[in-house]
Amino acid sequence: MAVSDYDQFAKAYALENESSLLNAYYERPAMLELAGDVCGHDILDIGCGAGPLTDQLVKRGAKLSGFDASAAMIDIAKQRLGETAELRVAKLGEVLPYEDNSFDDAVASLVFHYLPDWSFALQEVRRVLRPGGRLLISVNHPILYPWNHRGKDYFKVTEYTDEVSLNGESAELSYWHHPLHVTMSAFIDTGFSIERVWEPPYSKDAPQAVVPEALRDRDAFLSFIFFTLRAM
Ligand SMILES: C[S@@+](CC[C@H](N)C(=O)[O-])C[C@H]1O[C@@H](n2cnc3c(N)ncnc32)[C@H](O)[C@@H]1O
Repeated sequence: MAVSDYDQFAKAYALENESSLLNAYYERPAMLELAGDVCGHDILDIGCGAGPLTDQLVKRGAKLSGFDASAAMIDIAKQRLGETAELRVAKLGEVLPYEDNSFDDAVASLVFHYLPDWSFALQEVRRVLRPGGRLLISVNHPILYPWNHRGKDYFKVTEYTDEVSLNGESAELSYWHHPLHVTMSAFIDTGFSIERVWEPPYSKDAPQAVVPEALRDRDAFLSFIFFTLRAM
């Protein structure tokens, strides 16, 4: 059965993403902090989904293009963003529909972990970035797979499936687990320098209601890992 097909649960995912701890109060604020001042930057949002990050970057004065493999997600993003961003259906892992040297930055929130092999995807992102451009990535933290699937081999690149609840609807998502050294090698081998590796806390703005009791006294939250890379 095909899993991770966002066309099947686009609306539920988009709603979940607006207010969930993982997206609204953890992943998105962390990406925006990594991005910093982007006023006047040309930015590509890779796997933009319903466009919540795209929207925030537009509001900070950047010029946005975005793409997603799911036509249903792009439809929702278009309703949100109108003419303020250039949006299209395209697939990370294939040749990207952009000219060389088009962007100052690329952001890829929670999308690379759907790919078994990152090399070609990274080469393509590097091609469309200007020299010295940044690629900001968030993905499932590599601890998640052996943590949630006890006894599994951390060192093996493996596809695994998790059941998730999206705005009350259940769905299955399949991800590719990559041990950290494989991820780092892919960055280096495709000509990126690694400027930052970050395991951020969730946002202090998170309402108590969205933070599970067990996490309330923590200021670290290991679910995703973040990278700032620079095209050499
Ligand atoms: C977890 S969602 C994140 C969406 C958005 N980046 C955000 O943070 O709100 C992952 C998105 O990646 C898209 N996606 C998965 N594989 C993709 C691929 N190979 N190319 C482009 N988009 C992909 C999905 O359709 C989905 O919209």
